Amino acid sequence: MADARKKMSRHSYILNAVFLFISMIYGAGGLRTTELRITPRVVQRGRNVTMACLYQLDNAGIYSVKWYREHQEFYRYSPFESPTTRSIPVSGIKIDRLRSNESQVVLVAVTPALSGNYSCEVIQNSLNYPHSTASAKLDVVGIGGLRATDLLISPPVVQRGSDATLACLYELTDAPLYSVKWYRGRHEFYRFSPTEAPATKIFPFAGINVDLARSNQSQVVLTRVSFGLSGNFSCEVTADAPSFATSIVSNTMEVVVLPPSPPTIQTSQHFHAPGDVLRANCSCGPSRPPAELAFYINDSPVTPGLHQVLPMAEGLFRSEFFVQIQLWPAHYERGAPILRCEARAGDLYREDAAVALYSGSGDPKIERVTSPGSAATLLGCQILIIVNTILWICRTNIT
Ligand SMILES: *[C@@H]1O[C@H](CO)[C@@H](O)[C@H](O)[C@H]1NC(C)=O
Ligand SMILES: *[C@@H]1O[C@H](CO)[C@@H](O)[C@H](O)[C@H]1NC(C)=O
Ligand SMILES: *[C@@H]1O[C@H](CO)[C@@H](O)[C@H](O)[C@H]1NC(C)=O
Ligand SMILES: *[C@@H]1O[C@H](CO)[C@@H](O)[C@H](O)[C@H]1NC(C)=O
Ligand SMILES: *[C@@H]1O[C@H](CO)[C@@H](O)[C@H](O)[C@H]1NC(C)=O
Ligand SMILES: *[C@@H]1O[C@H](CO)[C@@H](O)[C@H](O)[C@H]1NC(C)=O
Repeated sequence: MADARKKMSRHSYILNAVFLFISMIYGAGGLRTTELRITPRVVQRGRNVTMACLYQLDNAGIYSVKWYREHQEFYRYSPFESPTTRSIPVSGIKIDRLRSNESQVVLVAVTPALSGNYSCEVIQNSLNYPHSTASAKLDVVGIGGLRATDLLISPPVVQRGSDATLACLYELTDAPLYSVKWYRGRHEFYRFSPTEAPATKIFPFAGINVDLARSNQSQVVLTRVSFGLSGNFSCEVTADAPSFATSIVSNTMEVVVLPPSPPTIQTSQHFHAPGDVLRANCSCGPSRPPAELAFYINDSPVTPGLHQVLPMAEGLFRSEFFVQIQLWPAHYERGAPILRCEARAGDLYREDAAVALYSGSGDPKIERVTSPGSAATLLGCQILIIVNTILWICRTNIT
């Protein structure tokens, strides 16, 4: 009895081993090469992508097909489950369930973050569940470049009449360049297409002068820029077949004219004593944009005041600022107060002018300083303050 059982178990052991061996061979033969085909392989963000898992089975059926992005499963087909398809939430992956089945998955509105390694794993419904995996790479190119694109304008703010270089920064990973198109607003003015002869093409646009000798596939040089060119510039990069992916970036060019000289200060009187009302004007220009003006007495801001922007010829402006303020003995504590006007145009321009508000003819010979606001002038003012202070001390000591 025991002997029979032993015989029996040995028999089943051998049988099992043979069956396993056969099924391994069968499995290896039954599930042949698997391929993952991604269409399109290089795609623009926002588009749909079809991933097809191509496999060949002999007799046995499918147990499941699993889809991964970088080892993370996001979709599964298993005919023995209900429902047969299941999507596993993975950040950023959106699946069109209606168009996905046992052999393909459709990803909707892909983002650059979904670029990477995808695989499908086919598991066969036979002993030991033989499986086979295929992988392929998806490249999602984004706005901002066929990877990363920027439009650099140098200088960032351009003086009217001078040159500007516009550089289109892009990265093409998997395809050659097909074209780079340049637009001012919606009007194309320059195109670089390496497959055409000549590779560069200019489309006339009022006020745009392209320096062909200095323009190429990554930059365009504009000469003698005018105010009319202030505004939106774009470069559109297109990759060659098969994707013909395009990417566009924009930037704003600002064409300016900076004031030809520092601001000037005018006061209503030659001399000012404590108790007087100071009436002062500062003006600056012509320029574009108009300068912003501010007054300071001994470095404290003088407010309020009257600002005026006057239109001048050629689209330029003149800025004026008028203040009226009572002068107090406190202003004279350290000698004649310094009235300073500062002119600014954004971050582009900053100049000032300063005058000392002398209290009378007893003051030093230079009765009024109307000065360009250079450092040298400020130094001059400081020396005058010192001289004035010394005089004041002398006078105080005498009396
Ligand atoms: C992408 O698929 C969605 C449905 O999932 C569809 O509405 C859309 O039109 C498709 N887009 C393209 C470009 O085929
Ligand atoms: C999966 O869907 C695609 C497109 O709808 C179709 O061409 C393909 O035959 C389907 N595959 C299977 C196995 O049903
Ligand atoms: C992609 O992923 C698969 C499965 O995770 C792996 O076998 C393969 O080596 C990966 N390929 C690349 C290029 O990383
Ligand atoms: C384009 O021209 C600029 C200036 O001549 C040069 O620095 C740059 O390398 C050129 N770029 C290419 C891609 O030829
Ligand atoms: C600049 O032009 C591009 C392309 O026409 C457009 O997409 C973008 O919104 C524009 N930018 C501005 C600030 O007008
Ligand atoms: C300052 O300018 C305004 C307007 O331009 C003018 O009315 C005023 O008289 C000027 N004041 C002084 C002190 O120059």
